Amino acid sequence: MPPLRRSRLLAKRRVALLFYESSTRTRTSFELAAKSLGADTVLVSALSSSIEKGESLKDTGITLRSLGAECIILRHPNSGAPYLLARSTGLPILNAGDGTHEHPTQALLDLRTILFRLSARNRLSDAIAPLNSGVLRGVRIAIVGDILHSRVARSNALLLPRLGAQVIFCGPKELLPDNAAGIGPGVSVERTLEHALANADVVMMLRIQRERLAGLQLDLEDYTARYQLNPERLARHAPDVLVMHPGPMIRGLEITSEVADGPNSAIMDQVQHGTAIRMALLSRALQSRLANTSKEKQKRS
Ligand code: NCD
Repeated sequence: MPPLRRSRLLAKRRVALLFYESSTRTRTSFELAAKSLGADTVLVSALSSSIEKGESLKDTGITLRSLGAECIILRHPNSGAPYLLARSTGLPILNAGDGTHEHPTQALLDLRTILFRLSARNRLSDAIAPLNSGVLRGVRIAIVGDILHSRVARSNALLLPRLGAQVIFCGPKELLPDNAAGIGPGVSVERTLEHALANADVVMMLRIQRERLAGLQLDLEDYTARYQLNPERLARHAPDVLVMHPGPMIRGLEITSEVADGPNSAIMDQVQHGTAIRMALLSRALQSRLANTSKEKQKRS
């Protein structure tokens, strides 16, 4: 699409960002994505709005709708909150992370990063061609760390095997229950990082979500010794692996700076792919809304 047309695609459409949890990457990239298509955006965050005074999600949602919001981007600590908001407002809701449930736009931007990077290395035949169920056949993706609390891990484990990838969850018992592989086909559990790395094409490191540990005691020194991705481990077990991390990173804990900033890292690519993915989703959400509204008008007349 020509850049000028793209920059006016959502001209004057109103998009609300409703954030009950903190965010840097997801919020900024959704906002920039909306603005680059010409939409007007407004940010409502829990700490500076009536949410702090006890207003419900439903009331906040219908208030935003009355103010002209045509689409809401929601981040919420409760799993399932986007469904509730969609039901109570009738608006398209884009899930920017709900509790420990899902973070679908992160999984899509991770997929885009993997496709671009692996096709550049000629590991995939024609990755940028239309997606099909075999595009990631033979690709092994290790997801390491706090799987239990990670909506990123869940969304990736639901998405990537559909395209043929094998997902290997790796972490200690406390952060990765034995039954985690039951999330779906193409997912297995491996407790030892060195084994997970051995045949992996991609390794996705995760932050320990301290805010969700709820009393769970974890020996961080032991965790770091067993699960940190550092230059020695990388060189010895997976010198060519593509290193990813959804951020925020805790440098020195799950990953060292040498690895995060090193030649294997695709972490900043992930951030950049996020804007394109969110532009696509926003235009889809708002354009289908326009189409539905005009169909309803036609029916009524
Ligand atoms: C993640 C999240 O919020 O789920 N970050 C992100 O959106 N890129 C992961 C995390 O908080 O550790």
